[in-house]
Amino acid sequence: MSLCNVIQSKDLTVKQLIKPIEFTASFSKPWLVKCNDDQQYVLKFFNGSDDTLANEFLCNRIAQVMGLTVPEIAVVSIEKENVQRINVNRKNLNEYQISPGKYFGTRFIDSTYTLEHEIYRKLKPSTIKNIREVPGMIVFDIFIQNIDRLKQNVLIHMLPKRQLTFEYVLIDHGHCFGGSNWNVNTMKDFQFDLLNIHWKHDLFIYDSQFKDYVEKLQNLDKRFFKEVIDEIPVEWKKQPHECNEFVNALSSMDASKILPLLKKHKRELLVKNLRTRIPKFDQCLSFIDDVKNKYHDLAN
Ligand SMILES: Nc1ncnc2c1ncn2[C@@H]1O[C@H](COP(=O)(O)OP(=O)(O)OP(=O)(O)O)[C@@H](O)[C@H]1O
Ligand SMILES: [Mg+2]
Repeated sequence: MSLCNVIQSKDLTVKQLIKPIEFTASFSKPWLVKCNDDQQYVLKFFNGSDDTLANEFLCNRIAQVMGLTVPEIAVVSIEKENVQRINVNRKNLNEYQISPGKYFGTRFIDSTYTLEHEIYRKLKPSTIKNIREVPGMIVFDIFIQNIDRLKQNVLIHMLPKRQLTFEYVLIDHGHCFGGSNWNVNTMKDFQFDLLNIHWKHDLFIYDSQFKDYVEKLQNLDKRFFKEVIDEIPVEWKKQPHECNEFVNALSSMDASKILPLLKKHKRELLVKNLRTRIPKFDQCLSFIDDVKNKYHDLAN
């Protein structure tokens, strides 16, 4: 799989600072800026010694090849004068200072809410243009070992000129592959887990939607990962000498292991649902659990 079927990132420069993104639970304290292509971007910073921006870049690429909706990205340079203004704001927030250089930008998407917003509860699946991508979004989060799929990290974008039609957009992938720092040792522990599945349960009825996305991941080879890692600015790669190992670890991840995890989750959802709806079923399972626990205590 080569990168030719993904949208390449642009190299841009900040032309104007617009405002800090008002968002309390934030590590990077992003800013909304205008770049020299006259478009607005959300610019994310890092302390120069973690892998958050490299993770953002890599995960956006993986999402793109899986056919999932993510914002367009850019490598954005920022010069001294703008950095000084940002640093005054960061100092007031007790945040680390940033230096002039390259940072991670996503093209700003207007008219968005997040899954936290009450609009999410009321959304009908028929109004969400890319609802069919959701199983892929779940598979993606498991593959990238995303520990940060909070409700704020899925945008609900109200599509322009199409009243009350929306799309989901995935953002914020700095905390993946074991967190914000990977090294040769942490790569050995790469494993899939189910974390923060916010999506509605009826998505789990058919397995085939998940399988299709797992197959897309199985098609990603070493060349794909190497091309992406090579494209990441060297300043964002904490351990450039460990990148080869990282590529090896990524390309040897066995995506087929994601399916049994989802099956187990589906069974658990089903049982939970039956337990709430049928009290006798719940009592029967509780009885079996009690017997099992007693047997376990006796055996020990
Ligand atoms: N491309 C975008 N278009 C519109 N809004 C965005 C975009 N990117 C981010 N936002 C808004 O900014 C908020 C913060 O962005 P993001 O989640 O990427 O960073 P963060 O959570 O502050 O960073 P960190 O992971 O370092 O804590 C999002 O919850 C969303 O509301
Ligand atoms: Mg976030």
